[in-house]
Amino acid sequence: MELGGGFYLREPLEVDAEEVGRAVAESLQYLLPWMPWAAQEPMSVQDRRRLIAEWREDSRLGRNYNFVIFHGARALGVQGLHRRIGPGGLELGYWIHPDFAGRGVSGHAAIALTAWALSEGDAEYVEIHHDTANLTSQSVARKAGYQLLLQQASPIDAPGETGTELVWEARRGRWKRPQLREL
Ligand SMILES: CC(C)(COP(=O)(O)OP(=O)(O)OC[C@H]1O[C@@H](n2cnc3c(N)ncnc32)[C@H](O)[C@@H]1OP(=O)(O)O)[C@@H](O)C(=O)NCCC(=O)NCCS
Repeated sequence: MELGGGFYLREPLEVDAEEVGRAVAESLQYLLPWMPWAAQEPMSVQDRRRLIAEWREDSRLGRNYNFVIFHGARALGVQGLHRRIGPGGLELGYWIHPDFAGRGVSGHAAIALTAWALSEGDAEYVEIHHDTANLTSQSVARKAGYQLLLQQASPIDAPGETGTELVWEARRGRWKRPQLREL
């Protein structure tokens, strides 16, 4: 999926394990406050190859879909659609390398994946959940055209979290694809 400006999304292959691992390693301090899995890093290349193989199997079975953001051969982040919020729903999660943050790449990727989820991913609705303290994540949800649904208590799984999260929704038939400034 082309995002413009040479950025694109694609599902990773096992051969991408090293490149994705490099992006994670370079981003780790930026991810630790918000991404619970970051505390388990570093992961060996072999384990990441296995993880990517699991992602491919999940995707084949329609369980979860993980896409890597690339610019040329360089991996810059991951966006995942997870079937963990109930029937007909997919939850969108995202991270990006800090050197590429603040340019709108995650917003464009979130829009492309929301459109995909509501059509090919066969979702009735997509949600974004983020801690109330994660204002950058909130900004992505808002500019990707999501509507704020509710605020709720949520377990603190990462050190930046406060224990309260916001839930945003894009629902088929109601979500309008926003037009962002080109990358
Ligand atoms: C959340 C994240 C993916 C956003 O990626 P990004 O590529 O920078 O996102 P975008 O450039 O599309 O949008 C970032 C927006 O946040 C805004 N922003 C940046 N820092 C901000 C801050 N401290 N407070 C409020 N807004 C902020 C930017 O201005 C931009 O908004 P705009 O385009 O309307 O001006 C990235 O910050 C990240 O990887 N964070 C760590 C992992 C994480 O928190 N993931 C989400 C967990 S729910």
